[in-house]
Amino acid sequence: MQTQLLTAKEIVKAGEILRGGGLVGIPTETVYGLAADSTNERAVRSIFEAKGRPSDNPLIVHIAEQEELSGLAREVPHLAWSAVEAFWPGALTLILRRSNLVNNTVSAGLDSVAVRLPGHQLAREIIKATGRPLAAPSANISGSPSPTTAQHVIEDLRNKIDAVIDGGACSVGVESTVVSFLGERPRLLRPGGVTLEQLEERLGRVDVDRLVLEEARSGEQVASPGMKYKHYAPKAEVIIIKGSGEKYVNYVNSHAQKGVAALCYDGDCNLLKVRAISYGEESDHSEQARRFFGALREIDAQRDIKLVYARSPEPVVMGLSVYNRLLRAAGFRVVEV
Ligand code: TXA
Ligand code: MG
Repeated sequence: MQTQLLTAKEIVKAGEILRGGGLVGIPTETVYGLAADSTNERAVRSIFEAKGRPSDNPLIVHIAEQEELSGLAREVPHLAWSAVEAFWPGALTLILRRSNLVNNTVSAGLDSVAVRLPGHQLAREIIKATGRPLAAPSANISGSPSPTTAQHVIEDLRNKIDAVIDGGACSVGVESTVVSFLGERPRLLRPGGVTLEQLEERLGRVDVDRLVLEEARSGEQVASPGMKYKHYAPKAEVIIIKGSGEKYVNYVNSHAQKGVAALCYDGDCNLLKVRAISYGEESDHSEQARRFFGALREIDAQRDIKLVYARSPEPVVMGLSVYNRLLRAAGFRVVEV
């Protein structure tokens, strides 16, 4: 199959492909998604095949109108509605008990469903053109950094999917925040485009799942299957260096040798004696989120890079979302300096 690159005007065509059971890479404000008709079991299975995704890792169902939520969930608790009012359309995914309208393959056999109403207008128009909710994981090969441009999707999935719509670069750059409403209190399963601080301001106390900042033990029961897989890993080895900017620069420079690179802030670049790939200004967590996955891909593109020392983002506001991804890219290897 040859993957077609569609422009933002070709929404009708994307809808036709999706209604026919095809796979289309679609822009959202977080990252690009690999969409299929969520009511078509065969189409949903082909998402798992194209990505090489483990079949026990459930998909997010994307809708275009708030009202569609009630049909997908058996019940929507009061706090979940508050979250919908505050953060939809946007980078928040709700985990709720699923109704029998949700395909078992989408939910990977779980009793729950993940639902999101994206903020990107083009994404909503594609859902409407299809006339069905769309199942869509990030449009990368499983384990590689999530795609934030149409070009990234092509790099990973060329000729494995029917089409990609080019909607430009994603404005958020990390995936949606995943919050479970299955328990008594909301529980953060994956930090993302909506921050923990914003959630707590609206919903009161939110529990943070241990796996947001820690590694799953082998065989451990996890609330969100995606958190147990090694994710976002570039081909080079990554080690996080935690400490002040000055200590970071000193550490990297004293370990400078062939094959070593730095993943750092803009202001560090000129001070470093190794190749430096930066992902934003130290003070701008949102910029760091927007540029982070692209920076990991840039590292991959330079094949002679064997070891990367990464500057550790501050784990607050959007920095928590970046740190969560960086930990996985580094296989949880952190050196304190
Ligand atoms: O921003 C995003 O969320 C993007 C765009 C395309 O919407 N999508 C995305 O999907 O990141 P994916 O499949 O790469 O990540 C979805 C995460 C996975 O970690 C998965 O395990 C978790 O959500 N998830 C999905 N359904 C779940 C459920 N029923 N219970 C717990 N976790 C669930
Ligand atoms: Mg993903």
